[in-house]
Amino acid sequence: MQRKTIRIGIIGLGLMGREFASAISRWCHLLDNGDKPALTGICDKNKESWQWYIDNFPGLIIKTDDYKMLIESDAIDAIYCAVPHNLHEQFYIDIIKAKKHLLGEKPFGIDKKANENILKVIKENPDVVVRCSSEFPYFPACQQLIKWLHAGKYGRLIEVRTGFHHSSDMDLSKPINWKRMVGINGEYGCMGDLGMHTLHVPFRMGWKPSSVFADLQKVAKTRPDGKGAMVPCETWDNAVLTCKSIDPKIGQEFSMVVETKRMAPGATNNWFIEVYGTEGSAKFSTHNPKAFDFITTSGKQQGWTRIDIGSQSAIPTITGGIFEFGFSDAFQQMIGAFIHELSGNGSNHPFKNVTPEETAWSHELFTAALESHKTGRKIVL
Ligand SMILES: NC(=O)c1ccc[n+]([C@@H]2O[C@H](COP(=O)([O-])OP(=O)(O)OC[C@H]3O[C@@H](n4cnc5c(N)ncnc54)[C@H](O)[C@@H]3O)[C@@H](O)[C@H]2O)c1
Repeated sequence: MQRKTIRIGIIGLGLMGREFASAISRWCHLLDNGDKPALTGICDKNKESWQWYIDNFPGLIIKTDDYKMLIESDAIDAIYCAVPHNLHEQFYIDIIKAKKHLLGEKPFGIDKKANENILKVIKENPDVVVRCSSEFPYFPACQQLIKWLHAGKYGRLIEVRTGFHHSSDMDLSKPINWKRMVGINGEYGCMGDLGMHTLHVPFRMGWKPSSVFADLQKVAKTRPDGKGAMVPCETWDNAVLTCKSIDPKIGQEFSMVVETKRMAPGATNNWFIEVYGTEGSAKFSTHNPKAFDFITTSGKQQGWTRIDIGSQSAIPTITGGIFEFGFSDAFQQMIGAFIHELSGNGSNHPFKNVTPEETAWSHELFTAALESHKTGRKIVL
């Protein structure tokens, strides 16, 4: 069968733009007979960022510093957009109106209003596939946890803890960047940056928070500006959201704690989910990326069982099943799920990308969290 090529353009050629380009350049890694992505266009207003792409992608047809040129190009079918949060609303809306499929980055709009405006345009263009990036659930051990959740092995939920911990900001001499500025990153701070990642699995299980009490912290008040002066560091560094949610499987309420921290001593990109139930509990953390830990609760004694899961990913790969899996593999698997949906094969994939509706749930939660912190009250969603 002839495999179709899906021509991709990237807007925003920074940290994540490169990760995306690298992932699609080694599509042969996947044992998949479906459509193949190929990078045909790049856009960044900073032309210095173009060179790495020019050196590594001979198939580029369009290179531009004006995203409108890219989205109007006939050489592009779909776009990965990884730009600062203040640009999400305008860029995503224009991409969708130009009828290009979109894998957009979180938080999918700098605030709730921006997110609502994006979702309005998505509704008006139902023929365009739009998803939000979130790669961590594609670790095979987390996929195992998701299967365990679907099988309802937890019984009745007691508590779900989900979080993302970083420690890079513990270095107070680290110069400020746009992710620490409210005007560009948004009022949500660490929640906008890290929150959607933590909510992908809970939301997919239908665990929408019904209330939230938020504890937000600004630890670093100032940061170097990189030119010798100190400037205000405005965004929230750490957030702990204590939520109530209802498990639609059995209609019972449970507690959900969502932690997003940029200042978590010792943690390097540590994404985790822990699920505690009356009949069983399970956990996954990128700190031990191979490990799927679970307990089946019976009698008094309870001991965790750990299974080392190799690289047995949702889309099979050439890598031997016993070998290790990493961030770049998860990112490639996430794009694989997107390509499956674009090709109309989404039902063949066990775990779809974050949907626009799920991003709206996250905005509801973060907006309520800001209100909760301001008023010191629990907010009902
Ligand atoms: N999925 C993940 O794990 C993950 C990790 C980090 C960041 N992100 C998200 O990805 C997005 C980008 O983050 P990043 O870390 O790649 O940032 P970055 O600063 O490394 O890259 C952003 C790029 O956008 C470019 N840009 C800015 N204004 C532009 C314009 N008007 N037109 C074209 N290009 C423009 C910048 O020049 C820069 O190259 C954000 O939404 C962020 O939250 C996702």
